Amino acid sequence: MVSASWLLALGLCWSALGGGAKLSELGGDEERHVLERTELSRRSAGLNEQSCTALAGVEAALLNNTNTFTFKVRTMGSLSLAWVGDGSGVLLVLTTFQVPLFMMRFGQSNLYRSEDYGKTFKDVTHLINHTFIQTEFGIAISPDQSGKVILTGDVSEIGGFRLFRSKDFGLTFVSTDLPFEPLIQMLYNPGDCNTLLTLSITSELWLSEDFGATWRKIHDSVCLVRWGPKNSIYFTTNNNGSCNDKGMLELRKTIDYGQSFQTIATRVYSFVLGGRFVFASIMTGMGTKRMIHVSVDGGELWNMAQLPTVNHEQFYSILAANQDMIFMHVDDPGDSGVGTIYVSDDRGTVFSKSLERHLYTTTGSDTDFTAITSLRGVYMTSVLTEDGAVETVITYDQGAMWETLRRPQNSHCSTDTSTNRPNRCRLHIHASYSTTMRMNVPMLPLSQPNAVGLVLAHGSVGDAESALSPDVYVSDDGGYSWLLALRGPHHYAILDSGGLLVAMEHTNSPVNQIKFSTDEGQCWHTYNFTSDPLHFSGMDSEPGSRSMNVSLWGYRNDFSKWVVITIDFRKLLTRDCNEGDYVQWLAHSADPSGSNDGCVLGYKETFLRLRKDSVCWNGRDYAVTKKLSPCPCTVDDYHCDFGYYRPENSSECVEQEEMKGRPLEFCLNGTTEQLQTSGYRKIPGDQCEGGFQPDRKETDLRRMCISNALYPNSLSENGSTNTAVIVMVVIAILLMSAVTGVWLVKKYVCGGRFLVHRYSVMREHVEANKIEGVDDVDTHYMETGKAQYNEDSDQDLLE
Ligand SMILES: *[C@@H]1O[C@H](CO)[C@@H](O)[C@H](O)[C@H]1NC(C)=O
Ligand SMILES: *[C@@H]1O[C@H](CO)[C@@H](O)[C@H](O)[C@H]1NC(C)=O
Ligand SMILES: *[C@@H]1O[C@H](CO)[C@@H](O)[C@H](O)[C@H]1NC(C)=O
Ligand SMILES: *[C@@H]1O[C@H](CO)[C@@H](O)[C@H](O)[C@H]1NC(C)=O
Ligand SMILES: *[C@@H]1O[C@H](CO)[C@@H](O)[C@H](O)[C@H]1NC(C)=O
Ligand SMILES: *[C@@H]1O[C@H](CO)[C@@H](O)[C@H](O)[C@H]1NC(C)=O
Ligand SMILES: *[C@@H]1O[C@H](CO)[C@@H](O)[C@H](O)[C@H]1NC(C)=O
Repeated sequence: MVSASWLLALGLCWSALGGGAKLSELGGDEERHVLERTELSRRSAGLNEQSCTALAGVEAALLNNTNTFTFKVRTMGSLSLAWVGDGSGVLLVLTTFQVPLFMMRFGQSNLYRSEDYGKTFKDVTHLINHTFIQTEFGIAISPDQSGKVILTGDVSEIGGFRLFRSKDFGLTFVSTDLPFEPLIQMLYNPGDCNTLLTLSITSELWLSEDFGATWRKIHDSVCLVRWGPKNSIYFTTNNNGSCNDKGMLELRKTIDYGQSFQTIATRVYSFVLGGRFVFASIMTGMGTKRMIHVSVDGGELWNMAQLPTVNHEQFYSILAANQDMIFMHVDDPGDSGVGTIYVSDDRGTVFSKSLERHLYTTTGSDTDFTAITSLRGVYMTSVLTEDGAVETVITYDQGAMWETLRRPQNSHCSTDTSTNRPNRCRLHIHASYSTTMRMNVPMLPLSQPNAVGLVLAHGSVGDAESALSPDVYVSDDGGYSWLLALRGPHHYAILDSGGLLVAMEHTNSPVNQIKFSTDEGQCWHTYNFTSDPLHFSGMDSEPGSRSMNVSLWGYRNDFSKWVVITIDFRKLLTRDCNEGDYVQWLAHSADPSGSNDGCVLGYKETFLRLRKDSVCWNGRDYAVTKKLSPCPCTVDDYHCDFGYYRPENSSECVEQEEMKGRPLEFCLNGTTEQLQTSGYRKIPGDQCEGGFQPDRKETDLRRMCISNALYPNSLSENGSTNTAVIVMVVIAILLMSAVTGVWLVKKYVCGGRFLVHRYSVMREHVEANKIEGVDDVDTHYMETGKAQYNEDSDQDLLE
């Protein structure tokens, strides 16, 4: 689940750059970029447009299919949106206006329900008896698409909390009083959505096996809880009741809903489940050091991850995990804001270096690491170069090799300005780091598994990431080539499995125009959807990108009412696509003349893709069609083994200087293993056959036998080197499933002067599928010794 739910936040009052800006120096560059932009504007008339023909009858087709709905509530407070079911068209909207008052909070909530993809809404607040719903608990939708909904109501005036539960897509609700005060949102068992878990504010773990009707307490003193596979529950507990006492926690597991418990690790600092792995950071020996331990059998057997140790200022972060392997970031010493990405073997135990100088600031979520879900093996992130520039790099083979992005054909860097970085004219993509820096980037990169090869992202062309207003770029081949698609920042969405793209300009002024493309972003058409422009807040469509309906949320005047305008594009693409509309496309084809062209991770994939010039409807039932063929092994099918790395521009692995003469021994399943390698390790999940088969017994065993190369100071050896070692472990929650689009719009006052919108898109993830579905990391959260993180709250959006 990669990425699934990246958190996106932005303010309409951007501060140009936050503190500690590490983007390319402004100053001199600024002038150059301004120059470049005027040039772009001059070219703009001709850009992509020469070959674009106007679509006939846009207004006629769409005007009759544009619905406007105005809510009675004012735009104050918060608004959350949740799609219920898949293809049901049901959308629930919860508005909450709340005032904090001393220790209490009270407020007012309204619930609305749409059955027609957002075209019309009914006020169904009476179904929840006008009960106040705290925004933190939100709308809990079952991940199995069965239409279960839970709202947690606050009835503290009569004492306690009340659940409103629906099994029919929010049509009717029954209420149940809770015997405790909940701390977090209800957690559905992904394997059986009738079973729910939650924590109380007194750290008790409560379970319900009948969809919230009755509850029983199964454990005390629980700090963090997660559903695991096959109805298992993992949680950390502290005997003495303080979850702040990290490093003293026990990791426990139950596989029978709390009838029996098993302690699977002690002295635990934190844990996370991802792919088929369980990770725990465990205190080692004496002192305050801790190491990441990995289990692939649900915690029976643990192995220490072969990674560098980190000191108290550093942290580990699991960037992505799938069934085969994980990407782990290890922070560099010092406050450098960069670290190294390591990729694991299929046991999650032996790691090798994948990317150095990876940008990841220590505040915990500022990394651009993005999984491109529309093509297997593709990940994108940013590095900080030695001279302080932020550059985007991409890998097409699950981290074996990284390269910079090519410059889009239809854009250029100015050449007449003196720059100390000549020949570095490249495309740079803006992702989380830019939004954290409050740059004018309203959306993160977007890709969808069913829109093969398609990526939309904000970017800028130059020798480094630019702080100026970015443009929207599109790639139709999974990031190999890019095209400047729209000037300036936009909100964008993928509809009809990629057959239709829509975009709204992101500005402070009221807007009345939506842009759309039927050819994967090459030509854009416009449609004026209203004569009365609105202040645009956000765009929403059903998760999964199969819909043809898109909803635009906003308001017409300050403090006026919420307006939603829903456009149904079905009448525009009147024709169903037929066989002739699809062409064969070889994925990862970078060198059409080579015999191994398209081979990535051991096989080629040929997809049937919609022709760009076909204006037709893929339909809701569209399924990606592809043909696989195996490839012989080459050096590209291997990661560099532990202790080896690939020098720039080289496909050969060479031994790391600091590892020379130091063999690798590690503990696997309780016995010491010695690694004898010629430097290559097959990429986990790679399916190549024959060809290059490096010898892994070449290295002299005797020379390899000195152990513990990575832990010179560990255990009893030197307990005094570090005084307080507090490792922050940044963890990505991997949702096993759950396609819930929850969208929040919040307003708050920024700098005391302006009314500001901040929104967050939490999108689906999922598809815990095999090779191509490198699961995304949907939500990032951080655990530190300092802040007690409240999982599933959206506190971080409020600031
Ligand atoms: C709009 O819809 C109405 C009924 O839904 C229909 O009578 C009318 O002809 C439509 N107009 C256009 C331009 O399609
Ligand atoms: C609705 O709320 C009122 C006041 O809070 C309460 O008296 C009444 O019992 C509630 N009705 C239901 C059906 O929960
Ligand atoms: C719990 O507290 C008692 C006394 O307060 C202490 O002796 C004991 O070691 C603590 N146990 C743990 C696991 O921290
Ligand atoms: C659509 O709206 C834009 C302004 O947003 C305006 O410039 C343009 O003329 C309008 N087009 C039509 C056909 O009304
Ligand atoms: C768009 O919404 C309408 C209902 O308003 C629905 O009938 C239709 O199926 C939706 N289209 C798609 C492709 O989801
Ligand atoms: C890598 O290749 C690029 C382009 O081919 C070249 O500019 C660069 O200098 C090379 N780097 C090294 C270290 O050889
Ligand atoms: C280690 O244990 C796992 C799970 O029990 C097993 O699958 C694996 O084969 C073992 N490896 C070795 C080298 O013993």
